[in-house]
Amino acid sequence: MKFELKAHLRCSGAVVRTRTGTPEGGVNLSDIDECVAYCNKELLKKGAPPGCGAEVVRWKVVDERITLEIVSDRFVRAHDALLRVKKEFARLLGRYRIGLRGIEIEDYKIALEWEEGAEEKEGLRIRKLPFVKEIRHRKGSLELVLDVDESSLDKKIPDRLIRLLEEKKEANRWKGKSEHWELIFESEKKEHYFDKDPTEAMIQRDWLQHAAGRGQYVYGPQITQIFRAFEKILLDELLIPLGYNEMVFPKFIAWDVWKRSGHAKGIYPEMYYVCTPKSRDPEYWEDVIDYFKVTNEVPVDMIMEKIENVGGMCYAQCPPFWVFLQGKILPDDILPVKVFDRSGTSYRYESGGLHGIERLDEFHRVELIWIGKKQEVIDHAKLLQERYRQIFSEILEIEWREAWVTPWFMAQEGRTGLAESKEVGTIDYEAVLPYSGKWLEFQNVSVNGYKYPSGFSVKLQSGAELWSGCSGVGLERWAASLLAQKGLDPDKWSEKFRSIVGELPEVFRFL
Ligand code: SER
Ligand code: ZN
Repeated sequence: MKFELKAHLRCSGAVVRTRTGTPEGGVNLSDIDECVAYCNKELLKKGAPPGCGAEVVRWKVVDERITLEIVSDRFVRAHDALLRVKKEFARLLGRYRIGLRGIEIEDYKIALEWEEGAEEKEGLRIRKLPFVKEIRHRKGSLELVLDVDESSLDKKIPDRLIRLLEEKKEANRWKGKSEHWELIFESEKKEHYFDKDPTEAMIQRDWLQHAAGRGQYVYGPQITQIFRAFEKILLDELLIPLGYNEMVFPKFIAWDVWKRSGHAKGIYPEMYYVCTPKSRDPEYWEDVIDYFKVTNEVPVDMIMEKIENVGGMCYAQCPPFWVFLQGKILPDDILPVKVFDRSGTSYRYESGGLHGIERLDEFHRVELIWIGKKQEVIDHAKLLQERYRQIFSEILEIEWREAWVTPWFMAQEGRTGLAESKEVGTIDYEAVLPYSGKWLEFQNVSVNGYKYPSGFSVKLQSGAELWSGCSGVGLERWAASLLAQKGLDPDKWSEKFRSIVGELPEVFRFL
């Protein structure tokens, strides 16, 4: 890595008049020489291995400006070197009652190792980066010309750019490899009573209708009663016996939540965006209103100019819960805490992947969260796994399997692979769909480590590490799994499930 920086220190007065300047007339040039020599010999080598670090290779004083050219390796990066030199100069100039007003960056180039021929390879070909005005692919290296000012240096933008590029390299290494998937459990085979697509079958019986939006359904009384039966099973078999309390989580997610949860790193192609009007004044909206009245068309382009994005719709369900605990210290004796939410929908833009109630843009889910010390959280995840197995084998009587996969929070940040700790991760539950032979993920159980407490600054009184886990139960996915294997006829369902669901209501008839 090579850094080449040309910057100016802006001073409060002329720095020097002549070579024999006096304190009244300016700074003695030999003092500057000495200061630079000290920087090069000691200050800019501090913390770097022998022979490494940064160096001021040229300097010049003109009127109120000291111009510095700094070259470095990765050990004392040139922008850090500049801040060190600035401090040293402030000390020197102070003796002459000259203050330092600020830094101007004239030119900042960074060259880093990059694969040869990367320009031809998607993923490694870098065309655009924030705070970079020019990118050049050279043989085995990548050269960036930065567009930064002093405040960008304070915000560590150059370091973050380098980290971003390292992440891109890493992501490229994973590309093509699919997400981690490792079978850990398989239920016994079950007889299947159905070989049709359950969504199609339900549409035929008017159990549901596609809604006006993409990947969205209006659920009729029968399937709604089935969803409620699933919730009852969860409550009676799992949530109540295990001591869960119900909460209501927000379904509009402000950016601050996703900055802390990590979703801001990757959610953009899949989220539903939420906007507010730039003004509440009806006059501001008059042209839109008039346009609609005369055309009967909603002028979406006009609207786009008058709104601003403030976040998105619920995507993972648990992140907004953490605002409840944000910045708090918890007494150890309230642990483990177990809560769940079933207060609304989740949204994912599935693009071309939509398929019936199996893959939707709008879906319903019960989300469980448990919080405790590390072992407590791991143990509770095991307990949940046992309970879920009981439900699937004894009540729903379905055929399913469980797999250890890339943790959901990593996948949602756009990462693949596994978490560093073996205890942290996600188990996906999948059911076979006889009509297609494919397996459908219908829920998960995850140990999320300290990620969420740390992202939302939640601490324990004792100082012990706080961990958490979550489990998302997709109601449409449970329905698709069960109905795909057993069909819509209650006779084919287990007796237990039939009695929990009760008589299915017949409300609508269409002519
Ligand atoms: N929050 C987890 C997920 O989004 C579980 O629902 O997958
Ligand atoms: Zn979750």
